[in-house]
Amino acid sequence: MIKQTFEFDSELKVNRLGYGTMQLPGAGVWGPSADEKNAVEVMKTVLNSDVNFIDTADSYGPFYANLYVKEVLKDYEGPYKLIASKVGFTRQGPDEWSVVGDPNYLRQQVELNLWSLGLDSIDLMQLHRIDPRFSIEEQVGVLADMQKEGKIKHIGLSQVTVDQLQRAQSVAKIASVQNRYNLIDRNDEDVLRYADENHIAFIPWFPLATGKLANDENGVLAQIAHNHLATPSQIALAWLLQKSDVILPIPGTSNIQHFESNIQAAYITLSESEFNALEQL
Ligand SMILES: NC(=O)c1ccc[n+]([C@@H]2O[C@H](COP(=O)([O-])OP(=O)(O)OC[C@H]3O[C@@H](n4cnc5c(N)ncnc54)[C@H](OP(=O)(O)O)[C@@H]3O)[C@@H](O)[C@H]2O)c1
Repeated sequence: MIKQTFEFDSELKVNRLGYGTMQLPGAGVWGPSADEKNAVEVMKTVLNSDVNFIDTADSYGPFYANLYVKEVLKDYEGPYKLIASKVGFTRQGPDEWSVVGDPNYLRQQVELNLWSLGLDSIDLMQLHRIDPRFSIEEQVGVLADMQKEGKIKHIGLSQVTVDQLQRAQSVAKIASVQNRYNLIDRNDEDVLRYADENHIAFIPWFPLATGKLANDENGVLAQIAHNHLATPSQIALAWLLQKSDVILPIPGTSNIQHFESNIQAAYITLSESEFNALEQL
């Protein structure tokens, strides 16, 4: 039986299929969306759906993705939505980025996330990357300090090894890890296994391999999609949901139809033989 929800704590329980905001800003994750009205409409659709786990970052735009979230959150009165954001990553132009883990800057970034999202505290604050110029203990330490100050509820990491995760755990409780993982990239199986064994949410970024899987018209994925009258993207998400109860996929899209289609993946159950065939890809 597939578990539909994941519990961060007794109060924060989310539906496992979430949404990521990275496709909302302009091309190369830089500047405003080419169609800001659409970006806000997408966010409104997300908020009015069953999705209650939203992943964002101040570096998306920078800030534009967070501002679209803020725009819709300010009038929202429905059921609680968990907002996860990130610090430790900066952008210099389209498709350009660099890691900045100076604890003083991380502290400022937490504040900038609170401002750009219009929140008093962030449910899940993830260290986007570990900056090798500073120790893991210093970088996670500043987030732990801000957790004590009530500005962060849970701490997560992104793109880490099991060793790095364990070092971070010596400083603070780690609630999630967000690593690249999808049907055609499973390099981080060991991190997933560790997360599974320790009830740490595993948030696979790039779950659709940026649309590549959607274009698979032949082969196993297409055949299984055909069996379920589904799309390859939906099957790729269903496989993730079935792979482990701690996986929380966050497909990103700037297209309302794609969003509506992606969330249908939560209703697909793959047979054992279909699941095993996908495992062999
Ligand atoms: N921690 C990290 O370092 C990190 C890195 C990258 C991303 N992320 C997070 O992970 C989230 C997901 O990753 P991602 O956005 O890079 O990759 P993704 O979700 O695997 O793929 C997004 C791409 O697929 C397309 N797409 C989405 N749904 C589709 C559908 N049903 N049919 C066809 N195409 C579809 C989108 O285009 P359309 O807009 O046209 O739908 C977009 O080009 C991000 O939004 C972000 O929150 C985290």
